[in-house]
Amino acid sequence: MKREQWKSQFGFLLAAVGSAIGLGNIWRFSYMAYSNGGGAFLIPYVIALLTAGVSLLILEFAIGHERIGSAPLAYAKIRHNWEWLGWWAVIFVMFGIELYYVVIIAWCLNFFLLSFDLGWGSDPNNFFFKEFLVLSDGPADIGQIRTPILASLIAVWALNWIIVYRGIRKGIEIANKIFMPLLFVLTAILVFWALSLDGAIDGIKAYLTPDFSKLQEPKVWIDAYSQIFFTLSLGFGIMIAYASYLPAKTNITKNAILTAVINSGYSLFAGFAVFSVLGFMASSQGKPISEVVTKSIGLAFVAYPQAVSIMPGGNLFGAIFFLSLVIAGISSSISIIEAFTSAAVDKFAIDRKKLVSGVCALGFLGSIIFTTQAGLFWLDIADHFLTHYGLVVVGIAECVLVGWFFNLDVLRKHVNKISSIHLGTWWNFLIKIFIPLVLGIILVGDLYSELKEPYEGYSWAALISIGIDWVLLTFIAAIVIAMRPWRTDYHKSGGRSED
Ligand code: ALA
Repeated sequence: MKREQWKSQFGFLLAAVGSAIGLGNIWRFSYMAYSNGGGAFLIPYVIALLTAGVSLLILEFAIGHERIGSAPLAYAKIRHNWEWLGWWAVIFVMFGIELYYVVIIAWCLNFFLLSFDLGWGSDPNNFFFKEFLVLSDGPADIGQIRTPILASLIAVWALNWIIVYRGIRKGIEIANKIFMPLLFVLTAILVFWALSLDGAIDGIKAYLTPDFSKLQEPKVWIDAYSQIFFTLSLGFGIMIAYASYLPAKTNITKNAILTAVINSGYSLFAGFAVFSVLGFMASSQGKPISEVVTKSIGLAFVAYPQAVSIMPGGNLFGAIFFLSLVIAGISSSISIIEAFTSAAVDKFAIDRKKLVSGVCALGFLGSIIFTTQAGLFWLDIADHFLTHYGLVVVGIAECVLVGWFFNLDVLRKHVNKISSIHLGTWWNFLIKIFIPLVLGIILVGDLYSELKEPYEGYSWAALISIGIDWVLLTFIAAIVIAMRPWRTDYHKSGGRSED
């Protein structure tokens, strides 16, 4: 069967950018920048982008393009007993990260609808936790499914399903060609609107005033590297699958650099809207900025609704803000579904349309747990373990695999043959030594804080049964699937360079 291809390289670029720009760019980045030294955070952030982000993105594009396959197929073609790595990535991302990612998109959809009549009332904090989530006492107290969340979750899954079902060209490419320009326009409206608010300038000062003393803290560097990893969708298996649908002649390095620059540029730009609004709120409530900045979830679903309620024309502003989150989220979540779909089609030759329907149905069922009253606790724990350990371990393993068990120069020469910007041997150094070392340090740092005290004060029972189990069970599933025989013979052919 012939592999589907993007209609144009521009279509591919938009899809890669769509995957990269997600929920994480809008509030996670802003909060990280603020809590890690404001403008000074941009230094480790840019260093992380240049030393790890761009190089790994080039690597993932190169693996998918040169080996012509989804993550498991590409790894199997590199070394047959490393197929599990690809499976593990696409399984814990699809049946882990994706399951709560879509629920956050569903919340955004609820809040988009609530914006029109400021449905969160006069106390958004109370509304979000007590009336919307109806948060239970802890992760073990599941309570009931929240019907409004379930309703929008169905809509979000339906949209994901329709797009991925239609395939690469007619689904994912077209969706991103609509979503990305729309997202940029909506974000530009938000930024300029927010900048015109009273007190905006104080917010911008808080956002950008550098606190260089923070650069001495290892946590700031760890945060910068983790943010780059998550934001560029590295270790998800997505960029490998997306690059496998490219034609032979493709400018790999240019596309990787553009994806990285547009993604980080977008984060920086959106940060102006986030902080102008916080500045506005601080000034209208006569409070210092530090008191209105809250951690990620609170920033979008508590602080923003508060600001929207007191802003002239706020309901429209709120609607645009939450719609932007929905769009950014969907363009990333479809890429996650595609990474898994692509893998299963490559190995088992399952009919793509049936597979996408099955995966979305299973995904929907799996995500219901996050719509219960304990959903936020589950989300918090699963997210912590899957992003801190799953993604980082995949990152280290892929560098070790291609750097030490494969001739990395095959990939470098392949990229150089078709790209306008050439990679020197410095790239080999980054992939073989620098990146695995940095990621290894992050992993050890994380493990250390994990063992020092249980994450966010949850019980060990909850952390093990929700977080650690999720990482381990998906790992076992990956091994089992990797041991199943191939129903196609794609893995028998080598890479493009050997053609
Ligand atoms: N890269 C996506 C995000 O930032 C997953 O949300």
